[in-house]
Amino acid sequence: MDTIINKSTISQELSCTDRSSHAMVAMAPAAGLVLASLAVVLATTLWKAAVHLVWRPYAVARAFQRQGIRGPAYRFFVGNNEEVMAMRAATADDVLDLGSHDIIARVMPQYKAWVASYGKIFLSWSGYTPSLCVGDHDMVKQILSNKTGLYAKPNPGPNFLALLGKGLVFSDGDDWARHRRIVHPAFTMDKLKMMTRTMAECAGDMVRPWEALAAASDGGVARVDDVGQQFVELTADVISHTAFGSSYREGKEVFMAQRELQYIAFSTMNNVRVPGLEYLPTKTNLRRRQLTGKVRGTLMAIIRERQAAAKEAKGYGNDLLGLMLEANASAGAGGQKAAAISMDEIIDECKTFFFAGHDTTSHLLTWAIFLLGTHPEWQQKLREEVLRECGGTGTPLHGDALNKLKLVSPCLSHHSDPLNAHSTTTSDTHFTCDR
Ligand SMILES: *[C@@H]1O[C@H](CO)[C@@H](O)[C@H](O)[C@H]1NC(C)=O
Ligand SMILES: *[C@@H]1O[C@H](CO)[C@@H](O)[C@H](O)[C@H]1NC(C)=O
Repeated sequence: MDTIINKSTISQELSCTDRSSHAMVAMAPAAGLVLASLAVVLATTLWKAAVHLVWRPYAVARAFQRQGIRGPAYRFFVGNNEEVMAMRAATADDVLDLGSHDIIARVMPQYKAWVASYGKIFLSWSGYTPSLCVGDHDMVKQILSNKTGLYAKPNPGPNFLALLGKGLVFSDGDDWARHRRIVHPAFTMDKLKMMTRTMAECAGDMVRPWEALAAASDGGVARVDDVGQQFVELTADVISHTAFGSSYREGKEVFMAQRELQYIAFSTMNNVRVPGLEYLPTKTNLRRRQLTGKVRGTLMAIIRERQAAAKEAKGYGNDLLGLMLEANASAGAGGQKAAAISMDEIIDECKTFFFAGHDTTSHLLTWAIFLLGTHPEWQQKLREEVLRECGGTGTPLHGDALNKLKLVSPCLSHHSDPLNAHSTTTSDTHFTCDR
């Protein structure tokens, strides 16, 4: 306030001594007002910052402590992010024992350290955002199945939002239900089975070079390097074909852009989020915007093409996108606009299953192959079963045959069940195909 008063008195003095400074006299009150409002805005911002960065963390930590929940101490603004990054850097080069399934110590060392110090339920800080980690199986179940809307999904931040959109993963309540009604028909078992052939062809393209390698070697054994990367390519191929069918090439372009968005999202995961910072023209922000635009433009063109085809009574297509558009059309039929989803929402849904469809699956396959590599006896059993139920090379794969794979299925689903995966992280369960 001092400066404001000083300035106006100075200009008043000036106006007495110098008659040519009319403009300044007129400006002085205006400038005073601007400065005053700036001061008010600044004070409010500082107050809000103090509440968010100092008071709230303190109050939240205390409220949890009263319930017996502890955790690593909050540090101003950065929370525990620096500790996490240091712990990650320390374990980044660790090589796990071949028989070890303790990946948490390697990829999430902070989790292991904090569970050991504070128990299975603890409070940590991602920047100034509190994060309650629940490692209790029953409690996790209760939270995931609670439909009261109390457990809302966290704000993913601009980089994850660019990657996944506000699709099924990040939407809540009614929005989530509406999306689910549109997406669900595309993922029913009979629809997925229709895609078996496409998937088998993609897998065949990957395996044939392996078989050729094995055939050319002495003992009929081939060494395949970097299996993980091959599975990434395989799953990208599968999802591009099954999601976008005839528009497969454009689908692949979306995939490449999504991969880069994924890289951006994960490499900035431990940065403290400051609201508004995503609009600054930094290199990452510009690239993210460019990629988001590309993904959106390509998907929109594919969708427009389908809509045009449907108008000519050619149908939406038999791939995942076509099935979603069809479900949307029937949901919106009869003037029920509220049940339908918009262009942007369907784009977000495409992003979601593009990411979710390839990333998790390629990791699952890589891990499964690794385990089979270390457990040859199981390799033998599963191979026998597949050959018996599905037929050898050259026999077209039928979706129905998959139901008969009584050994293969549980081996895979054991690892793709998130609740199960969670319990493996907290207790010392070892991988067994116990059947
Ligand atoms: C949902 O969670 C809230 C808060 O923990 C709890 O009060 C409520 O009973 C839960 N509802 C169900 C159906 O579990
Ligand atoms: C979904 O259906 C509604 C109503 O039929 C329609 O207005 C909307 O354009 C459709 N969305 C897409 C992406 O086709």
